[in-house]
Amino acid sequence: MRRANEHGFEMMGLKDGWKGLLEDNHFRLTRETTSGILHRGGTILGTSRVNPFKVEGGLEKVKRAVERNGIHAVIAIGGEGTLSAATRMSQEGLRIVGVPKTIDNDLNGTDFTFGFDTAVTIATDAIDRLHSTAESHKRVIVCEVMGRHVGWIATYAGIAGGADVILVPEVPADLVAVAEHIQRRHASGRSFSIVVVAEGTRVKVAENQSEQLITSGALDEAGRPRLGGVGSIVAHEIERRTGFETRVSVLGHIQRGGVPTAHDRVLATRFGVHACDMVARGEFGKMAALRGNEIISEDLAVATKELKRVPEEFFKVAQVFFG
Ligand code: F6P
Repeated sequence: MRRANEHGFEMMGLKDGWKGLLEDNHFRLTRETTSGILHRGGTILGTSRVNPFKVEGGLEKVKRAVERNGIHAVIAIGGEGTLSAATRMSQEGLRIVGVPKTIDNDLNGTDFTFGFDTAVTIATDAIDRLHSTAESHKRVIVCEVMGRHVGWIATYAGIAGGADVILVPEVPADLVAVAEHIQRRHASGRSFSIVVVAEGTRVKVAENQSEQLITSGALDEAGRPRLGGVGSIVAHEIERRTGFETRVSVLGHIQRGGVPTAHDRVLATRFGVHACDMVARGEFGKMAALRGNEIISEDLAVATKELKRVPEEFFKVAQVFFG
């Protein structure tokens, strides 16, 4: 806000992202309305998964709202969905600047998105806590974290939390290999194991395995997990194959809330300042991005071309990935 004021900008907050433009729902952002929010989780703007390109006449409505309200430029803050729409808007001639915000850290062109560090911190803390029960009750505990398409949270929180197995969408999970690994671990004297699995992980289905998963009750006839997400399948299969008592814990939206870490606050502030400067310079169709420790401007089209996957190097570092 301070940087916007320095540039002499008048700022307007769009309620629930693109929805706010479509429905003309917005409010003035001032030093007063934005003071004291840095340490709070969530967003005073609200959020929605509305994509103007999926709404009939959406693009025209957005263009009209921009004109009617005298909006010089739109700063779009969000993940792959929000910024893909921003990329198309910019190609349609709107003055757009992007800011990468998602816990998934899956946007190309930036080393990190803000929100990721907070989610990883919460997930790591949860894994630390799960160790207590796993150790004292001599159990295998499967912790399912977010990540529909990529496994950044599972990778970072799994490594930081000392997980014995990490499963990510980038590598289909071989549950036979996982069960064998856990069996070997326990045979060598360990009495517990922690498995971290990203929600979007696909289970590698060997011959007959999908049938087995159905007959053993892990999947229903339509091939969907019978009890919740992939974590329940992984837990079910580990228990069935090893005989070790296994539990599953799904973190869900807990990892998407609460107090942001200092790292995320600093990154978000740097992105915000850079975005204001980009508007002032007339640098549109780009996204504020982190490269090393420098904030740069990256083409929105590059940022949203494809998802940023976890590189293989991580799998070698941790040696607890199974595919
Ligand atoms: O913000 C991205 C994400 O956190 C994904 O990792 C997760 O799958 C999804 O959101 C959950 O979305 P919703 O809150 O709409 O269920």
